[in-house]
Amino acid sequence: MKKEVLIFGDVLTELSKLDDNSVDHCITDPPYNISGYDNKKEIGWLKTDTHWSSNKNFNKIEEKWDSFSDKDYEKFTKKWLSEVFRVVKPNGNIIIFGSYHNIYKIGNYLQEADKKLINSIVWFKRNAFPNITQRMLCESTEHIIWASNNSQKKAKNWIFNYGVLKRMNGGKQMRNLWDIPMTPTKERKHGKHPSQKPEEVLQRLILGCTNENEVILDPFVGSGTTAVVAKKYGRDYICIDNNKDYIEIANKRLNSINTGSLKKFM
Ligand SMILES: C[S@@+](CC[C@H](N)C(=O)[O-])C[C@H]1O[C@@H](n2cnc3c(N)ncnc32)[C@H](O)[C@@H]1O
Repeated sequence: MKKEVLIFGDVLTELSKLDDNSVDHCITDPPYNISGYDNKKEIGWLKTDTHWSSNKNFNKIEEKWDSFSDKDYEKFTKKWLSEVFRVVKPNGNIIIFGSYHNIYKIGNYLQEADKKLINSIVWFKRNAFPNITQRMLCESTEHIIWASNNSQKKAKNWIFNYGVLKRMNGGKQMRNLWDIPMTPTKERKHGKHPSQKPEEVLQRLILGCTNENEVILDPFVGSGTTAVVAKKYGRDYICIDNNKDYIEIANKRLNSINTGSLKKFM
């Protein structure tokens, strides 16, 4: 039976209701903690390209859900991660998005938990917003850590669909630098999320690192990108977000999927 579940609720409460080893993989894009702090104000990320093109002005990501003290961020991240380790089956893939602000911390927590790190992927956004402070390079990458839910020594048989990714890459071995533009407008027609990921990035992760009918968990699904791509490619999903507006966007996106127009890479 298909398991397609989109839950409006808090990550820790909802994860605590899931059984041990009950999902195959976790692919998620948690808060990066780039909102809030004074010392981060000048280097925040721009929120929308429309704002930039119309105002040539700085309008950075400033969301309550993305604002923690460093200590609280560490506590929160370790809590949801340990729930993910519990509910993902042994050797399932755990794939986490981040930026330079948080990715080293997340990598460190995974290593502290003795998880096998398989790859890190750099997503290059060739159309990233300019940096107006002129105090640093223009930030145009995000980072994705891919780990296996097992120890360094014991991890084995993780899902990696080498041939599928090679076909997606025009017959050449897929590398870990992905040149994919920021989320296109057509994927935002059901509503805006400030950090919505492009379907193309999720398509590579889901087709490359999961199999049909497996269950993918995304405890921070936002506007639903993981669920949408999972559904398009015959994967099941359990996805969570504690923002009603984002869940509504996700539902609209899921209801408008047209599987007939999908490219096949199998
Ligand atoms: C970086 S965004 C995910 C964006 C998503 N990848 C997309 O493509 O739309 C992180 C999400 O985590 C959600 N979130 C933050 N704290 C949460 C919590 N305690 N429980 C559940 N969701 C939470 C936010 O509402 C936000 O949508």
